[in-house]
Amino acid sequence: MRLVIKIAGALLDDEAVVRQLARQIAETAKAGHELLVVHGGGKIFTATLARMGIASHFTGGLRITDRETRDAAVMVFAGLLNKRLTGAISLAGQNAVGISAADSACFLAEPMIHEGDAGGLGYVGYLTGVNLEFLTSLWRAGIVPVACCLGLGTDGELYNINADHMAAAAAEYCHAERLIYLTDVAGVLDGEKVLDKVNSTDVENLIHRQKVSGGMILKLEAAKRALAGGVKQVRIVGGTSPRALRSASNGAKGSGTRVIPALPDAEAKLAARASR
Ligand SMILES: Nc1ncnc2c1ncn2[C@@H]1O[C@H](COP(=O)(O)OP(=O)(O)OP(=O)(O)O)[C@@H](O)[C@H]1O
Ligand SMILES: [Mg+2]
Repeated sequence: MRLVIKIAGALLDDEAVVRQLARQIAETAKAGHELLVVHGGGKIFTATLARMGIASHFTGGLRITDRETRDAAVMVFAGLLNKRLTGAISLAGQNAVGISAADSACFLAEPMIHEGDAGGLGYVGYLTGVNLEFLTSLWRAGIVPVACCLGLGTDGELYNINADHMAAAAAEYCHAERLIYLTDVAGVLDGEKVLDKVNSTDVENLIHRQKVSGGMILKLEAAKRALAGGVKQVRIVGGTSPRALRSASNGAKGSGTRVIPALPDAEAKLAARASR
């Protein structure tokens, strides 16, 4: 099975968690699955920006990315964090290669349109294509590609991509069967409770009732996109629990939150009537 695994940047800030995830990635790959690992940024990025005297600005959960910020993103995402994770997977006994968009033009991007303006957020983009031939050659050679959240524009510039959107689009373009989001919370929370499953209608309700915010809104929107793009299963799982990835990749019930397609109209009406 082809599987895209998205790892939250926050999980890469803890060495023990990185080792534990690397072990599970190695086990999953050895079980014969084709994995694409995509990772996010984390505290190290914000700390690096602060050390360089660059302030962080966000709008709607997206980072405004000028050239200086983008250059720091390349250093931290494609450099430190990508190599940390790739090194851990390799040491866990599974060959892995850390790739960024620039390598074999494997992830292509276009500048994001913000309030009608292409590139209005600076070097922030969305994924427009993958070099599937290149990724396939890695899988055939028994290598796990580990990608950071950057895309290469036709202008030769690297664009920062929200890692959740990148993972969803990459899963669609790679025809992956499953997409697993490993995050820093146990799943989608409604108060204290981890929701077992949410469908597209629930997502709208959760956002409307302000039960989800910030990065989780982007993640749920990305999950919906992946389902619409043909990915069969999407899960949002806490990445710090020791068997998180193995359970999610085996399709075990009870680990995190499954995001499922909206009920067809007739079923939705029946469900609404039953809940009255
Ligand atoms: N209802 C909710 N359930 C769970 N998390 C929520 C909810 N509402 C908001 N959040 C926030 O969303 C965060 C997860 O999104 P966030 O963007 O921070 O991480 P990520 O996408 O997993 O990693 P990265 O952004 O590094 O790729 C949680 O840490 C939590 O603070
Ligand atoms: Mg996020």
